[in-house]
Amino acid sequence: MAKIYIKNAEQIEGIRKASKLAAEVLDYVAPFVKPGVSTGELDKLCHEFITDHGAVPAPLNYCPPGYTPYPKATCISLNDVVCHGIPNFNKLLKKGDTLNIDITVIKDGYYGDTSRMYFAGEPSIMAKRLSKITYECMWLGINEVKPGAHFGDIGYVIQQYAEDAGYSVVREFCGHGVGIEFHEEPQVLHYGRRNTMDELKPGMIFTIEPMINAGGKAIRSMPDGWTIRTKDRSLSAQWEHTILVTDTGYEVLTVSPDMPSPPHFIRNNH
Ligand code: MF3
Ligand code: CO
Ligand code: CO
Repeated sequence: MAKIYIKNAEQIEGIRKASKLAAEVLDYVAPFVKPGVSTGELDKLCHEFITDHGAVPAPLNYCPPGYTPYPKATCISLNDVVCHGIPNFNKLLKKGDTLNIDITVIKDGYYGDTSRMYFAGEPSIMAKRLSKITYECMWLGINEVKPGAHFGDIGYVIQQYAEDAGYSVVREFCGHGVGIEFHEEPQVLHYGRRNTMDELKPGMIFTIEPMINAGGKAIRSMPDGWTIRTKDRSLSAQWEHTILVTDTGYEVLTVSPDMPSPPHFIRNNH
């Protein structure tokens, strides 16, 4: 049994504030995403917004065992980059590029973690469909969240939906408990079987952040020690929210004025 933190009211309020700020960063950066801008510039804009709001970017110098310190404030993952793309002033967005911007902030000691997909100019029909299906995967996972459900239920619905669409689920990276630390237990797998893994309890806070590939599930790591790409160079997409388990269902903590609405098939009576 994993040691999953149950957060108290004060901790929940702190994590709620950090999560909102992380989502507001994603709102703020949206109008700057267009062909010709560098991912380094987008990172700089996010970094400044975060510090201007009395917070710290959690990725900067983050150094899990076996890694080198992460050099930037955000992760920006283009096209076939699955996750942990390192922003770079020499990497200019091209028309039709798809990208995930992933923001984790530390505000008053608490963490909030969220990411969205963006397009530089008009994307291909294929890229749009991959992003949409991935967004629906995330929300189908969120929709499972309530006391008594199991983490395996989340993975199950995500895997089913992605594979029915002809896509594959990345296995090496997963969602995670979050709030008091950056990456807490449990690992929230985006594949699996119903009624497996730990049971969800009120006060748990974790991310759901499926990485879905248009081609095969295999990945490869780049020599920079961070960047992950699809092995077959197919496109990859990801969306991420931080979720609180409530007494009756869930609360999405990473909310902001411009966040995309849930898909129509999601219940809102939690
Ligand atoms: N924000 C990522 C996540 O969703 C983690 C990024 S780790 C970093 O878990 F060091 F690359 F920033
Ligand atoms: Co993240
Ligand atoms: Co995360």
